[in-house]
Amino acid sequence: MRLGILISGRGSNFEAIANAIARRKLDAEIAIVISNRANAGGLDIARMRGIPLRVIESRGMEREAYDKLVIEELRTHEVDLVCLAGFMRLLSASFVEAFPNRVLNIHPSLLPSFPGLDAQRQALEYGVRITGCTVHLVDEFLDSGPILLQSAVPVLDTDDVETLSARILVQEHAIYSQAIQLLVDRRVTLQGRRANIAEIEA
Ligand code: GAR
Repeated sequence: MRLGILISGRGSNFEAIANAIARRKLDAEIAIVISNRANAGGLDIARMRGIPLRVIESRGMEREAYDKLVIEELRTHEVDLVCLAGFMRLLSASFVEAFPNRVLNIHPSLLPSFPGLDAQRQALEYGVRITGCTVHLVDEFLDSGPILLQSAVPVLDTDDVETLSARILVQEHAIYSQAIQLLVDRRVTLQGRRANIAEIEA
């Protein structure tokens, strides 16, 4: 499966996917990394690893026009699955239609709690005892779409945004590749919003 990874920043989830592929835990190939910001740290990771990368700046561009450019780039690289990895932009309905049930996102909360920005801070401020992260298929709404995998992370009394985010991130790095492998293995079937995951036959 050929992955197109969309980033806006640090790129640690992208790096975790690249590591899982290198360790043969994930049977996929990163065809292209696209950043909407020229200064995204994740671009250096792609450069160091010799992974094809492209900056398509989004600032000042209309959503549809921007998404069209990204779709073209993904098609050029024959991408099968689009993985949003800290890509901080809402995608248009036409983007989602271009890759039906073929766009994944990772979000640092147990959705549907705390969608949007600063999910870890939202969880701390709300006072939940358990939060976590979610890998889900993307629809045209924010942090919405059928959920593939979630991982729970306890909130400690001593936590601040940094410590909580760091513990959630460890789980993000684990479940993102696992979720991609579920799609590689065609183990996911959708029933409305529900993603059923077939057991591996013995
Ligand atoms: C991650 O925590 C990811 O879950 C979050 O941004 C961070 C990106 O880190 N995404 C969202 O909040 C999306 N709504 P990374 O660039 O190191 O992967």
